[in-house]
Amino acid sequence: MFAIFGNPIKHSKSPTIHKLFAEQLNILQQYKKIYVPINKFNNIINYFFKHGGYGANITIPFKKNAYDICDFLTERGIKSGVVNTLKIIKNNKILGDNTDGIGLLKDLQKINFIHKNSNILLLGAGGAAQGIIYPLINFGCKITITNRTYKNSCNLLNHFNNKKHIEVIKIEDTYNITHIKNINYDLIINATSSSIKNKIPNISSNIIHNNIFCYDLFYSSNITSFLKWCLYHGAKQVSDGMGMLIEQAAYSFFLWYGIMPNTTLILKKFKKKYL
Ligand SMILES: NC(=O)c1ccc[n+]([C@@H]2O[C@H](COP(=O)([O-])OP(=O)(O)OC[C@H]3O[C@@H](n4cnc5c(N)ncnc54)[C@H](OP(=O)(O)O)[C@@H]3O)[C@@H](O)[C@H]2O)c1
Repeated sequence: MFAIFGNPIKHSKSPTIHKLFAEQLNILQQYKKIYVPINKFNNIINYFFKHGGYGANITIPFKKNAYDICDFLTERGIKSGVVNTLKIIKNNKILGDNTDGIGLLKDLQKINFIHKNSNILLLGAGGAAQGIIYPLINFGCKITITNRTYKNSCNLLNHFNNKKHIEVIKIEDTYNITHIKNINYDLIINATSSSIKNKIPNISSNIIHNNIFCYDLFYSSNITSFLKWCLYHGAKQVSDGMGMLIEQAAYSFFLWYGIMPNTTLILKKFKKKYL
């Protein structure tokens, strides 16, 4: 038995995606959504694993709690400090992995939004930002983090302790034209949750030029508020996070079964049927 745990959880598309993976690979699988009241994560996840649970996905706001209960971690899990995938291994021990970053990287490569030396401006310093940094710097990219609350971006910088590949700037610094022209970002990733409320992070439009790629981790049936803003200010290529959603799920599926689904087919099916 498999499940996704979160709060809120009602709108999660993970059960649908995993159903499509299981159908594609002729696997019989039960995958549920489980709502977890705040402060009940440990009780509920332990109950699940004691009563037939084999694998779990973890979403907002429990990725750090999930990291804390792991007996073993993949390298991605260790480096991120937050996990979105759990698996029961020998002697009922729990293995944790973070597939958000590798899922994002795979999608960015598929749509040709990234290369090994990309200079990335990362907006946000929450759980999603923390999960995606390691695979991106490991790939060779340089990341500048900027966030509404400056302290939270400094905390991320301290967590990764890699000043060669990561720097932090204040939101106000995005209005400093000399700084922006010197760096000339190749890719801007919105890892804030601002698009959920149709808002846009308070950054300068000077960052947008006609060769920049713009990616919003959020996805919806309409273009997100952030991507609309990027196009308005001259960006030519934008993408939302639906591809990442499918790719990160595929890496979870791989951790559980050792088989990788064909995500290109699933993405097409998913867009057609479920949006
Ligand atoms: N496509 C995928 O597979 C995938 C996977 C994971 C997450 N996501 C998406 O990624 C987004 C972030 O998720 P998360 O888990 O990191 O959430 P989180 O831990 O709650 O962090 C939220 C981040 O957004 C910032 N923020 C919130 N509202 C803002 C606003 N109006 N203006 C500017 N900044 C704002 C916060 O800044 P402060 O530090 O100042 O509070 C913080 O950096 C969500 O939209 C989520 O749906 C997508």
